[in-house]
Formats: sequence, structure tokens, C-alpha cells
Amino acid sequence: MPKSAAVILAAGRGTRMHSDRPKVLQRVLGEPMLAYVRKVLRSVFDDAVWMVVGHQAQMVQAAFPEGRFVFQAEQLGTGHALSQALPAVIAAGYDRVFVVNGDVPLLSEDILRNFLAKAGNADLAFAAIELDDPGAYGRVVRENGQLRAIVEKKDYDAARYGVESHEVNAGMYIFSLPVAQRLLPRLTNENKSGEYYITDMIALGLEENCTVRGVECGRDDALLGVNTPGELARVEELLRARTVGRLLESGVIIHAPESVRVSPLVDVEPGAELSGPCEISGHTLIEREAQVSSHCVVRDCVIGVGAEIRSFSHLEGARVGTGALVGPFARLRPGAALETASHVGNFVEVKNALLGKGAKANHLTYLGDASVGAGANIGAGTITCNYDGHHKYKTIIGERAFIGSNTALVAPVSVGNNAFVGAGSVITRDVPEGELAVARGKQKNIVRKKK
Ligand code: UD1
Ligand code: CA
Repeated sequence: MPKSAAVILAAGRGTRMHSDRPKVLQRVLGEPMLAYVRKVLRSVFDDAVWMVVGHQAQMVQAAFPEGRFVFQAEQLGTGHALSQALPAVIAAGYDRVFVVNGDVPLLSEDILRNFLAKAGNADLAFAAIELDDPGAYGRVVRENGQLRAIVEKKDYDAARYGVESHEVNAGMYIFSLPVAQRLLPRLTNENKSGEYYITDMIALGLEENCTVRGVECGRDDALLGVNTPGELARVEELLRARTVGRLLESGVIIHAPESVRVSPLVDVEPGAELSGPCEISGHTLIEREAQVSSHCVVRDCVIGVGAEIRSFSHLEGARVGTGALVGPFARLRPGAALETASHVGNFVEVKNALLGKGAKANHLTYLGDASVGAGANIGAGTITCNYDGHHKYKTIIGERAFIGSNTALVAPVSVGNNAFVGAGSVITRDVPEGELAVARGKQKNIVRKKK
């Protein structure tokens, strides 16, 4: 079996997106579109996946710290991009190279494997799709059914190639390496864009009597390229609907499914319940019987069995334990960890803080860099003052402690188990276990002069 590697072309600027962000980093359901392409390729080619980067290369590299990269200093076209990647692939001992544009986030493993199987051992093969509107895609030119070339839309001359067909190039190829090495130096940039087109390798291959195959992949949406904001929106909607459909089939209960935006990276167990509109992305796990109500945003979280996330809550990088209750209107930031049956209520923000089993912070509170013991009660308006303008400090609250309303806990500070803090206190010293701390002005009642 010949050994195959993969190359993703991701160096382009993406002019038609009108954005400073490199096109392959534009997000589809919260993930850069390149992440989807790379994931599918890695499931087939393991770590033999190279990404060609150029425009804003550092940004792309930073998004994939474990990626393998090849640098294309000047974006002289897709053929030029491949020629920059070839030395790395050859040096690594591969015989064949699969190449795909970085802007096809809907590509699936099935489609990829199907293409590879149909391409067989051809010297050169590409995926062809049928589109009602062939748009700006490269046109597949055949003569009496015989493949002749791929001609870019801009360069299409009807007098020379005949009526434009609806069969277009999907932007996915496989080459035998010796053939690619032979053909690439023959590319020229004599075309409307002044670029070295990978697509010109088809006609060159035919000229050299190589076996060249245009693999028909039907009308599949999965190979749509993203070049404009409109195409990004369309592809995102397709991926969203596909993901929601799969979850419904697996036994997840979904209300208003048309407005549930959930990324395919998210894992939702059967029996969990989601209500739209909501947005769930990143490496999130939602366990059985958990509920995420409408108007919530959840990213990179674990929501435990039976936990309830009420409407208008925003959660990122948080762990919500079994049966815990969050919201409405709660904010959990990275490092928030809520143990079993704990409660975080409305207008409560939690960051890098642990809330022990059954502990409650039900109203208007900020808990940052803190640890709250099991069964503690945090009164309305409690603030951990964790920042002095230079450094962050920790607040430790013991088990079953009771913090009265409107308390400022000036960190570093600790409140012992079963201790009690009077409402309106500013606590700057540790409170020993079981004691009562009151730190506020004494009330004076003064008789008023009669008018
Ligand atoms: C390309 C194909 C077209 C096909 C379409 C499918 C060419 C010449 N045309 O057109 O036949 O129908 O894809 O979607 O290939 N890139 C680089 N370096 C460069 C230029 C581009 O890495 O110098 C990368 C881009 O980042 C992108 C990919 O190559 O991911 C394709 O480039 P793009 O400009 O999107 O090509 P299309 O015009 O869509
Ligand atoms: Ca494209």
C-alpha cells in the first residue's frame, strides 16, 4: 500500500471575506473552519497532515499549537502553495499526497474515504460536484465525456471550451508524488489572476498521459467552499442543522430545534434537554437529564447529570455538578466548579472558584479566586475583593459558614467552618471557626429637631 500524506491549503488571504482575520480562522459554530477540515483529515491520515500557511501565518499557527506547518511566503496561487509543501512530504517518506482547500468545513470522513476509494491508484484525481449555480468554482471541461481540464471561471472562454457545465471542481485532490513533482514546475501564471493554479495540473497530467480521474461526488453540500460572509452563514446553518438532527436521533430532547446552535464537537447524552435559542460550543459535555434552557451560551463546560441551567446564563470553562442549579442570569467563567446540588442564582458571577456540595450563592454576588465549603450560604450582594490593582488573592469560606448580605471579603482572607458574618461587613481579617464577625459602623439613632 502506498503511503499517503495530506496537505491543507490555508495560506490565502480570503479577500472576499472583507476581514483582517485569515479566512481559515473564520468561525463556524464557534470553531475556526480549519479545525473541522484538519479533524477529518487526521482521522484518515493521522499526524501526516500539513497546513500551508502564509497570510497572518502566526495567527493560524497559534490556533493549532500541535499542527505541522509549511510556510508560503507569497500567496502566488494554489499550485504554488502545493509546491511549497512538497519537500516536507517527500522528506517524510510518503508516496502520495492528498490536497484540500482549507475552506471546506463540512467535509466529512465518509466523503473523504469515498473519494480516496474512487480515486484508487490514479496518478492524479480530483473531486467533481454538480451545482445548480456553479458560481465562481472551477469548471470541469469534458469533450465527448472525456476529461480535458479544469478552467477557472475567470478564464473561461466559451468559444474555446463550449457551453459552461454545472460540473465543478470541489477543491480536493490526490497526486502520486513523482507526478506532482514533475507537473508542478510546468505550471505558469499566465491567466486572469496571475496565479499558479493547482487546477492546471489536470490538463498537464492528461498531456503527459498520466491516469487522471475526475471523481464524481454528486450534488453534496459537504464540499461547499466558503469565500464570502454569505457562504459562511450558509455552511454554518447546514452544519448546525446536521448536528441538531444527529442529536435528536440519538435521544436528546430539543425544544425549538431550529434555534439551537450546537457545534459538532459538543457531546450531549441522550435524555438531556435543550431549549432554543441557545448556543453550545467547544469541548462541552452535557450529561443525561441535564437541562439547558433558552438564551444560554455554554462553551467548554461539563454540565452534570440532572443539572439545570436556567435562561439567560453564560457559562465558559465551568464544571457544573450533578443536580446543581444555575441562573437565571448567572455567569460562570473559567475555573468555576459547582459541586453536587449547589446553587448559583441570578446576577451571580463565579470565576476560578469552587462551590462545595449544596453551597448556595443565590443573588447578586461575585465569587472570584475562592473556595466555598459544603453547605455554606453566601448572602445577596457578597463580593470577594480578590484584586488590589496588582495581584489576585484567594478567599476561603468554610463548610456551613453563613455570609450575611452585602459583605465585602477582602482577600486574602478566610472564614472558618460554621462561622457567621453579619450583613454589611467589610471583612479584612480571618474569621475563626464558629465565631461571629461583624465589621460595620454601629447604628446610631438620633432624635430629629421638630420643625
Ligand atoms: C479553488 C479552485 C477552484 C475550485 C474551488 C473549490 C484554484 C485555482 N481554483 O478556487 O477550481 O472550484 O477552489 O472551492 O485552485 N491558498 C493558498 N495559497 C495561495 C492561494 C490560495 O494556500 O496562494 C488557499 C486558500 O487559503 C484556500 C484555498 O487555497 O483555503 C483555495 O483558495 P481560494 O482562493 O479559496 O480558491 P477558489 O477561488 O475558491
Ligand atoms: Ca475557495
